[in-house]
Amino acid sequence: MKVAVILPAAGLGTRMGRPAAEKTGTSRKQFMLLDGSPILLHTIRKFVACPAVEQIVVALRREDLDWVAEMLRREGLAGTVSLVEGGDTRQQSVDNALHNLPPDTDLVAVHDAVRPFIDLATIEKVIQEAAETGAAIVGIVPVDTVKQVRRNKIHGTLPRERLILAQTPQVFRLPLLRQAFERAREDGFTATDESSLVERLEQIEVSVVLGSDRNIKITKPSDMDLARLFLEEERAAR
Ligand code: CTP
Ligand code: MG
Repeated sequence: MKVAVILPAAGLGTRMGRPAAEKTGTSRKQFMLLDGSPILLHTIRKFVACPAVEQIVVALRREDLDWVAEMLRREGLAGTVSLVEGGDTRQQSVDNALHNLPPDTDLVAVHDAVRPFIDLATIEKVIQEAAETGAAIVGIVPVDTVKQVRRNKIHGTLPRERLILAQTPQVFRLPLLRQAFERAREDGFTATDESSLVERLEQIEVSVVLGSDRNIKITKPSDMDLARLFLEEERAAR
């Protein structure tokens, strides 16, 4: 099974509240430094450590292509990691990367570049499940009760036992994911994860493997405090 990984990293990080680009590259959240390395690089290292992964494709904003390429050369990762220009939405960024995969790819794992605390065991588990079934994502059970609202009025309570919070990686057989993106393009449908696009094909049931609440998507300033704590714990565990 040849596995390729797509890391969308072309976002603006607006909720982090520091979207301006800087020459040092530490401005947008995917490039903020943790222990001296950009978050994106921490995430890349997690997948480089996974023997099943053959190729990693990172989608970036155009202005970041050159300096990130240079950083990867310095890290000795230029052969394993290739770069493509992202788009205006996460979905468009992933779609662009999908067109730049090695032709012999069997499985594609899509993972948010801003989830650097994914662990190797979970990566391997979700790849294994997708290898068997065709489609699998990482998720966790919610601890809060989730309500549906209109304005500030509650219109329903979702039974918690039947809910999963979707994380990444989300792993699919390449032809299935290509078809899902094609259909979404035709229908003008946009979603915030790949599974949504595969689900609406109604061809295959997507499996969930349970992950960890450490696999946070670094989104807002307070997430950086958590990130520093998790990083320290990771280091202590090694
Ligand atoms: N992403 C992308 N291309 C976009 C938008 C998002 O590649 N046009 C990437 C982000 O860089 C991030 C991942 O998708 O790695 C998850 O998106 P999110 O957490 O929403 O990041 P941003 O869109 O950058 O943040 P915000 O929504 O706060 O602006
Ligand atoms: Mg976003």
